[in-house]
Amino acid sequence: MIRYETDADGILLLTIDRASKLNALSVEVMDALGEAFVRAEADEAVRAVVLTGAGEKAFVAGADIGQFTRLDGLTGEAFARRGQAVFARIERMPKVVIAAVNGFALGGGCELALACHLRVAAENAVFAQPEVNLGLIPGYGGTQRLPRLVGRGIALEMILTGDRVAAQRAYEIGLVNLVVPQAQLVDAAKGLAKKIATKAPRAVELALRAVLASDGTMADGLAHEAALFGLSTGTEDLQEGAKAFLEKRPAAFTGR
Ligand code: COA
Repeated sequence: MIRYETDADGILLLTIDRASKLNALSVEVMDALGEAFVRAEADEAVRAVVLTGAGEKAFVAGADIGQFTRLDGLTGEAFARRGQAVFARIERMPKVVIAAVNGFALGGGCELALACHLRVAAENAVFAQPEVNLGLIPGYGGTQRLPRLVGRGIALEMILTGDRVAAQRAYEIGLVNLVVPQAQLVDAAKGLAKKIATKAPRAVELALRAVLASDGTMADGLAHEAALFGLSTGTEDLQEGAKAFLEKRPAAFTGR
């Protein structure tokens, strides 16, 4: 489910491999992702991490929408908390983590890219927080990390409209660090990882910690987000939105 391949330079390439579902984050994928980062943190052969998705179409097309219909207000909050914990582990890694975004980065996929320290996008990359289309809000840190990265106005535009942001605009708004042709994506991300891996490891680790510490209210923000995500999972509209997606038809929302 997660491929773990370290090269001679100590760059670990982690690939989320569930291409038939556009690498959607099922509970199993989330668990495997968390375990891969636990292993990478302890693995002395690893100097830096590049995270990507299998196939040429998607980085990650979101949390697994099929799982949403089983949530209610309380289990929804716990669901968000579990995912947030995995993403917080990625963000708090003492080695740099670079997302190589090779296509759709939607919902939880966009939030996963946001939890990485840096983002390199292929020219076909597409970012969005489309949760509103399903009757949800982002629950894996999007309401906290997106405004910190691109500013509140553009973050709200993305979160409230669900509109897609293509690679070039993502670069212009600071959502990604670099845009490259798809064929060069992994090499470009590895090149950036390699550059950072040649720096003093303790300095890199301390710089990561120092920059993260500027987010004093992140923990409170995440707790609040999980509670509100939980509320959105208790609505009839979520049941309708998720069903409509799975049945490949437009959703009919009622506001309940
Ligand atoms: N959760 C569960 N399954 C998903 C998924 C998700 N987030 N995203 C894609 N899939 C599945 C599809 O259901 C489909 O499965 P099937 O072949 O068994 O029917 C498969 O992945 C391929 O997706 P499909 O929709 O057929 O591809 P497409 O090229 O027509 O469309 C997307 C691609 C990304 C536009 C579309 O899949 C989509 O809108 N996905 C959901 C995005 C989203 O809302 N994510 C945020 C969730 S909060």
